[in-house]
Amino acid sequence: MSMTLMLIAHLSDLHLYTERSETGQAPANIRYIVEGIVSDLLGLQPQPDLVVISGDLADGGTEEDYLLIRQLLAPLTMPIMAVPGNHDRREAMRLGLGDRLTGLQEGKFLHSRVDADGVTLLGLDSVIVGQPQGALCSKRLDWLEGELRKTQPLTFLVMHHPPFMTGNPHWDAYSLIEGRERFRQIIDASPKRILCGHIHQPLHIQWGLHYGAIAGSPAFQYNLVPGSKAAPAENQVAYSYPLHHCQPDGSVLVHLRHIT
Ligand SMILES: [Fe+2]
Repeated sequence: MSMTLMLIAHLSDLHLYTERSETGQAPANIRYIVEGIVSDLLGLQPQPDLVVISGDLADGGTEEDYLLIRQLLAPLTMPIMAVPGNHDRREAMRLGLGDRLTGLQEGKFLHSRVDADGVTLLGLDSVIVGQPQGALCSKRLDWLEGELRKTQPLTFLVMHHPPFMTGNPHWDAYSLIEGRERFRQIIDASPKRILCGHIHQPLHIQWGLHYGAIAGSPAFQYNLVPGSKAAPAENQVAYSYPLHHCQPDGSVLVHLRHIT
């Protein structure tokens, strides 16, 4: 197996808004926080080859929200791949941002596919319109199954809702509620790296053959205590985002960038 090095930045849950925050939880200065992340990315040398955003780019998803996101991400010269989250709106996201997103597929769902030397990334749209939970219906899983027939040796799956359990009943009831079992069957043929969001807290899992990573949120984060069954409390823990550094031998180093 031989491939070039690839550096992938994983962002999630930016919750940007212009007029009104749908959650009521995104801070008024979120656009300046995101500007700080963009400037941190720009300061990296070498530059990441790709930025992946695993959903909730917007906090409500008006067309103006996506124009703001477009403007904030404009200094970045690398490709950006993104999937929608439950606080995004598919039509507005495609309209406002579609031509800035790399690998975005045609059709109802905002799926993506990016192939590089040695690396394939598939973005899965797990949104249920009008609901916080996510779903992978048979149509979406058929698409995934088809795309996985031909991939590069290192395969990343990007989706907003984590397909694995966190062990916290509040989060697990609020996460992927359809398609978990078949998703697992489809991906089990070979190891995958699954990049998600939605939980607003950095969390990593070895899930059978697969590595899974939930990215934190620069807007607001929760404090999911290991083993606790209580509803996670919101707390302002320091934000960091991961850089996945794919190596020629197929290993992947995960670096953390702390934003103060
Ligand atoms: Fe979110």
